[in-house]
Order: sequence, then structure tokens, then C-alpha cells
Amino acid sequence: MLPVPYLSFVAVTKNFGTLHVVETPFNLEIPRGQFVAFLGPSGCGKTTLMRMVGGLDTPTDGSILLEGAPVGGPDRRRGMVFQSYSSFPWLTVEQNVLFGMKYRTDLLPSEKRARALHYLKLVGLQDFGAAYPNRISGGMRQRVAIARTLAAGSEILLMDEPFGALDAQLREELQVELRRIQTEDTKTIIFVTHDVEEAIFLADRVIVFSPRPATIRADIDVTSILGAVRDLTTRDGQAFFNLRTKILHMLRNAHTAAA
Ligand SMILES: Nc1ncnc2c1ncn2[C@@H]1O[C@H](COP(=O)(O)OP(=O)(O)O)[C@@H](O)[C@H]1O
Ligand SMILES: [Mg+2]
Repeated sequence: MLPVPYLSFVAVTKNFGTLHVVETPFNLEIPRGQFVAFLGPSGCGKTTLMRMVGGLDTPTDGSILLEGAPVGGPDRRRGMVFQSYSSFPWLTVEQNVLFGMKYRTDLLPSEKRARALHYLKLVGLQDFGAAYPNRISGGMRQRVAIARTLAAGSEILLMDEPFGALDAQLREELQVELRRIQTEDTKTIIFVTHDVEEAIFLADRVIVFSPRPATIRADIDVTSILGAVRDLTTRDGQAFFNLRTKILHMLRNAHTAAA
């Protein structure tokens, strides 16, 4: 018997009225612990695909399976991080992270606190636990969102352009951080972006989508090209440059083909 894939889209169809979001049938398998980027033009259906994994939306037909079972509504196995994190302004950073564990009846309050501190440290916010969200930067708030999701116990991270609202330098900093966090505490990650460099810097695998209805243009094993270790020098290498050019051409051609 073939092993059951960790996460899979099986013959998925998604329509909003007469609008077909994906070219049917849409199939994709993601192994446990893989960092996958969904890269494609705006409006191609990336967010919709991700929301269906999170249980915020359902396929019109077909199914999304997690270890062979259809995913239901949102639960803490699948944590979501959006472009801007809506933290509770009346709670401190640490309390916001603790809030993610509100329903963890398996943990004692002392264990929750230890977990909150552990993840705050992992995202580099150990000194900001007592700060209120409106007193920290946008980049730090995104780190709080990541810490909260990890502390909640999510094994799948669904990230929808989480660094989209940040300036270029901060964005690069958080990309390096996220890659480091992933090597220290490996999760399955689906990271939605329309930024080519962000996708190839971060991901083990980049799925390049066509304009809507989304089809998979390319499925690229980035780790075999760039290696698993990424740092700021990765971006200066020839391999990075070549891959970036190749994907940019793909996206450009996709636009021409659709016109
Ligand atoms: N709830 C909805 N109702 C109707 N159309 C929607 C809804 N959500 C998304 N769409 C449409 O589906 C298409 C794909 O959207 P989306 O998944 O957000 O794309 P992306 O994230 O790639 O920019 C777009 O044309 C969008 O307008
Ligand atoms: Mg989107």
C-alpha cells in the first residue's frame, strides 16, 4: 500500500459563482515538514487555496486531506498568519501568545507560561513580553503572531503574505528569522507570496501558479538548487540569480499567454 501523503489536494474544484478559481481537477501533495511557497500573480487563487487548507473555505468539489482525513473547520493543528496581525491591544505580548493556548486543557498554566517564553525567545522577543502591541513595530507584531501560532501547537503554518506590509529591510530580516525558526522547530509551511525572491529565499519548494484559473506552472525543488541553509549571502549567489530570472520569465509568459 502506498503511504498516505501528509497534506493533499485531491481533484479540488473551487468556484465562486461562475468564477473558476482553480483549473480542475487540482491535485497537489505536500510532505510533512516541507516549506512550500505558493507563488503567482495577484488574483490567481493562492489565498483561496490556503484558506481551504485552513478550513476557512471549502472546495466546491474534491477534498483536502490531512493524513488521509478531510480537513474540517479551523483548529489549532493549522495556524494562520496574515498580512497584519490583529493582536489584542489590551493584552501584553506575552498574554497574546498565551491566548493562543487558551483551549489547551492538556497544559498546566505554568507549562503554558514556559511555552510562551520559549516561543517568544525563538522569535527574538524575550525582552518584550510585557510590552503592549501598539508599542512595538509591525515587524515585531508579526513575530508575535508567529510565536502565538507555534505556541498554540500548530503543526501546519499557513502564512498569507505575512511580511507584505513591512519595509524591504525588515522584510529581509524576518525572512532570515523564519528560515532559522523553521530549522529549529520544523513545521509544514505554506507561504503565499507574489514576490519571487521571497519565495525562493524561504522555501524548500516553490509552486508557480498561472493566472486564474490557477494551474501549476512549475513545481521547483529549491533546496536541490540552493541547499537547505539560507542566509543573506544566498541572495548574492549566481544560482539564486538564475532561478529568480527563470521564474520571472515564467510569470511574464504566463501573463502574455493570458492576455
Ligand atoms: N469570497 C469570495 N467571493 C467571490 N470571489 C472571491 C472570493 N474570494 C476570492 N474571490 C475571487 O477569487 C479569485 C482568487 O482570489 P485569491 O485567492 O484571493 O487570489 P490571490 O490570493 O492569488 O491574490 C479572485 O478573482 C477573487 O476576486
Ligand atoms: Mg491573496
